[in-house]
Amino acid sequence: MSPPHAFYVTTPIYYVNGRPHVGHAYTTIAADVLARWHRALGAPVKFLTGTDEHGQKVLDTARKRGMTPEAHCDDMVAHWKAAWVPLGIQYDRFLRTTDADHVAVVQDTLTWMWERDLIYRSAYEGWYSVVDEAFVTDKDVAEGKYDESQLQRITEVNYFFRMGRYQQALLDHLEANPDAVRPASRRNEVLGFLRRPLEDLCISRPLARMPWGIPLPFDDAFVTYVWFDALLNYLTATGWSPYPEKAAPDWASWWPASVQLVGKDILTTHAVYWCTMLLALGLPLPRTLFAHGWWTADGHKMSKSKGNVIDVTRLTEAFGADAVRYFFLREIPFGGDGAFSYEGFLTRYNADLANDFGNLVHRATSMTERWLGGRVPPLGALDDREHALVALAQRAATTWAEQIPELGFGRALEGVWELVRAGNKYIDEVEPWRLNREGDTPRLARAMRMSLEVCALAGALLESVMPAKAAELLARVGAGGSVIASEAIAGRSVLAALPEGAPTRFGDPLFPRFTEMPALIAEMLSTPQEAPVSETPPPTTPPEVAAAPERAPDKPQITYDDFAKVDLRAGTVVAAAKHPKADRLLVLTVDVGEASPRTIVAGIASKYAPEDLVGRQVVVVVNLAPAKLRGVESQGMLLAAGGQDVLALVTVDCAPGQSIK
Ligand code: MSP
Repeated sequence: MSPPHAFYVTTPIYYVNGRPHVGHAYTTIAADVLARWHRALGAPVKFLTGTDEHGQKVLDTARKRGMTPEAHCDDMVAHWKAAWVPLGIQYDRFLRTTDADHVAVVQDTLTWMWERDLIYRSAYEGWYSVVDEAFVTDKDVAEGKYDESQLQRITEVNYFFRMGRYQQALLDHLEANPDAVRPASRRNEVLGFLRRPLEDLCISRPLARMPWGIPLPFDDAFVTYVWFDALLNYLTATGWSPYPEKAAPDWASWWPASVQLVGKDILTTHAVYWCTMLLALGLPLPRTLFAHGWWTADGHKMSKSKGNVIDVTRLTEAFGADAVRYFFLREIPFGGDGAFSYEGFLTRYNADLANDFGNLVHRATSMTERWLGGRVPPLGALDDREHALVALAQRAATTWAEQIPELGFGRALEGVWELVRAGNKYIDEVEPWRLNREGDTPRLARAMRMSLEVCALAGALLESVMPAKAAELLARVGAGGSVIASEAIAGRSVLAALPEGAPTRFGDPLFPRFTEMPALIAEMLSTPQEAPVSETPPPTTPPEVAAAPERAPDKPQITYDDFAKVDLRAGTVVAAAKHPKADRLLVLTVDVGEASPRTIVAGIASKYAPEDLVGRQVVVVVNLAPAKLRGVESQGMLLAAGGQDVLALVTVDCAPGQSIK
């Protein structure tokens, strides 16, 4: 087998005009999971993150604090670094744009480009957006895309990078490489952008207007502009230099980057500015530039100015790092947007971690302890039910190995949870307590061994997402971790990997259940917020209904935040049958864009025959806590019109998994 390729993953470098919040943590957690996973595969890994310290915004913030920009940056960097520790972020380099090696790379790049006429000097008049640290086009301003109070009209001499020259080469590259920008919808956006004329890029600021930057080596009256400086950080960390004699010998083993993660807000600066800079430097483009979506709170992208940021450190203190890491990767498909709410977090925590996962681990270890002396029992010959569990385990491991490199975190996790739920179902069905009562020791041993094996595989797969809990779990079920992890990550079936006789340990719940919001969060929520979030969508007046036949009593008014807790997704009914025990109910199998379809029990038998439903597109509440309806667990609910008697299902015309607001 050939050795795994070097894996280089980057996050954006974050502005130090504020502290880290959930949005920043999201990108960084995703990068950390990729880095840990590739390290576990044995690949050489470089994981880069850091801080973007130059520019007007940071200078303004420092001045407001009455500090020099240097002192302000040092102070803020300490907060950024400190935030990543409890979250278990294991970066290989934390780059500050004020680091000496980075300043040298930026200045050498400027010189190299200047010598080759890739940079020129010219007068420029235009609108400058302080928020975006960029000149913006007259057209975008006329179309109202920018807040005019944040714009300045500026005429000045500056230096420009001949970006427009690389428009066609970039288009050709993106067309030939479908994975260069992902997801596909974002790639299309970039292609659309590139079909309009591409201007050159202003890369400087006169020192007199904005002194907080890296001086241009060929004109000390100017500093370089924030993006030109910041984007080069990805090369600095590899040891690259435009002058080969200055470059680190191994820099080319790291470039091109394997995955560069960005939020959708900074896609253009990466897909266009960064990629054209690379083309001008004669360097290959990143293998994948992945733009994920935004986390919103109160219906808005989290931002310091809106006052709606979710403090990730407090969330971590309240629920633990591994729960935070799990939630963000599981809750929404990577690439989509997500609405954060504490209630949503609590619900998923209790359902997936305390109930499904915690329960399985608790049952496996406590029964092994009680009846089998706390040692991994022998396995023996498997029956059909156990072979089915092995097959499911195989599928979870394969899905994981396929999905993680594709950034399909949600699908990978769903595969593990399918196995976890099957593990619980297996215990329900084999009834180890009965086997113990009947003195059927070989079958009891097999049942507990299978349960421990399912825990071990789940733990091994989850190591990159939940490093601390996975290690704890593996220790409890008698696995050193190493054998299982290497087998599991290779996508091979492993439900026979535990060393027989190894001691198991039954301890406190891995994920204690919260019956109410943890005090740390509850206290914060009960403290009135300083400023109301601006731009809250105005309440809409519902259209008048001429003659409402069966109007339900009005419910109390709710906030947008209340509504946003309901996770509605498009689904396709793939199978439908009568409920074995209730005439009123149908049991539906509905694809909601996850690794496997859900079972949904719906009270619609009076209106629909099962055969009418297959292929129908429906709207599903996917975050409703599962409930057993006459013995069949329903994993969600369909939306339908009508009261006690259903009149019609709500249907929708889009792909399964699409979220609905
Ligand atoms: N300094 C630039 C990036 C330069 S990279 C060469 C910058 N910094 S930032 O502090 O504003 O952070 C931007 C990144 O943080 C986003 O692109 C995204 O990765 C992440 N997020 C910030 N807020 C976010 C949400 N509300 N939701 C999801 N991610 C968000 O831009």
